[in-house]
Amino acid sequence: MSAAASYVRDNRDRHLNELMEVLRIPSVSTDPSRAGEVKRAAEWVKGRLARAGCTRTEVFPTKRHPIVYGEWLGAKGAPTVLIYGHYDVQPEDPVSLWTSPAFQPVIRDGRLFARGACDDKGQFIIHVNAFEAYLKTAGRCPVNVKFLIEGEEEIGSPNLEPFIAAHKDLLACNAVVVSDTAMFDKKTPSIVHGLRGLSYIQVDVRGTARDLHSGTFGGSVVNPAFALAHIIAGLKDAKGRIKVPGFYDKVRKLTAAERKSLRKLPHSDAQFKKSIGAPDLFGEPGFTTLERIWARPTLEVNGIWGGFTGDGAKTVIPAEAHAKISMRLVPDQKPKEIVAKVTSAIKKLAPKAATVSVTHIHSGDSWLAETDHVALQAASRAVEKAFGKKPVFTREGGSIPVVATFDRVLKVPSVLMGIGLHDDNLHAPNEKIDLDNFFNGNEAAVYLMDELASAAR
Ligand code: BES
Ligand code: MN
Ligand code: MN
Repeated sequence: MSAAASYVRDNRDRHLNELMEVLRIPSVSTDPSRAGEVKRAAEWVKGRLARAGCTRTEVFPTKRHPIVYGEWLGAKGAPTVLIYGHYDVQPEDPVSLWTSPAFQPVIRDGRLFARGACDDKGQFIIHVNAFEAYLKTAGRCPVNVKFLIEGEEEIGSPNLEPFIAAHKDLLACNAVVVSDTAMFDKKTPSIVHGLRGLSYIQVDVRGTARDLHSGTFGGSVVNPAFALAHIIAGLKDAKGRIKVPGFYDKVRKLTAAERKSLRKLPHSDAQFKKSIGAPDLFGEPGFTTLERIWARPTLEVNGIWGGFTGDGAKTVIPAEAHAKISMRLVPDQKPKEIVAKVTSAIKKLAPKAATVSVTHIHSGDSWLAETDHVALQAASRAVEKAFGKKPVFTREGGSIPVVATFDRVLKVPSVLMGIGLHDDNLHAPNEKIDLDNFFNGNEAAVYLMDELASAAR
């Protein structure tokens, strides 16, 4: 075992304590009242990067939450690796469903519970630990390292793409490394080579100037809640296929070979169904569950509200109704085109007697990489060394829009070496990280720097 790998083994407790420190900061990016906490988390990350051995660290303010940058460029002639992560987290609600408070990290049964434990504080930190291991044991790292840790990932990274475009030289590198995804399952480590894109919209339906007595006025006006239900129902057929004209036009088809290799993965629908407590599975006809999640687009209602929702009954025709709708996208769909198509389908379904507006909230591109790329193969070897098992290549249904930006703007490959598990409760109560994965992840991150030193030139 290398000195750096032994170092992360010997420093497990301290690395865990440091992670717990940052997990105590409620850096919820979507909540304006927590902007100060988000800033505090940024300062913590900057301090951590400096202690690990970065020779330059900086907090770049943006219009909203800061971007943290750190670098160590002492490996002359070696490749440069840009490590991306996010220190912001999702809100902790519903609070009452947490076994222990979201921002008071605790260890139970070999898992560390806290908001951000897996998404993404407990994941990006493995690369800081690995970098520190090289600097403290050898005084140098096998690759040049740049850290880019943002605070707006969970709100769609509105300020990151402009930052990257404006700092191409600062961020110039040979490969990007991201740990912000999950392994296939605990026994099956994986390297992710595809992510879905995302477009998010809000639909607002307005009827009359104010709520109306449903007896006095009922029957004479359109009910906005009903109009919204009609619109949503018109977007998909009963079997789950999206009816928006042209929605599937640019979807890249899976090849026969891809479908075959997906079928070889150790996935069980029965197990999957049980793990999420679903009465049954449901999705676009003609595709398997993994195909539906990884390679097919979706249109979903994230939330819907309007009218009276309290206890008991109130006879009312609400003045307005609303829905948050998102589309997960796959290559080669373009977010702008999809938003335009969905918007016009919604407008067509809208009754004339109501006012319907569609607001775009955020969008990000999908991403798909070739698995035989040298950087992905380097990651595969690193994971195999640390986890004792050769990883499989998988795709993810989730989105990390900046990965496509790295591809487009910096023109470099990204390596997605995630150590999360699909039951880590991301965005949900009782988020956790598995400690075996965390410790193995630290070692994988050590090996990855070594492997990239010879591969990613
Ligand atoms: N880390 C997740 C994305 C993810 C989760 C990838 C699980 C693979 C497996 C990321 O923080 C996230 O939540 N992304 C958002 C998109 C963003 C634009 C709000 C998502 O996927 O909903
Ligand atoms: Mn994340
Ligand atoms: Mn997330």
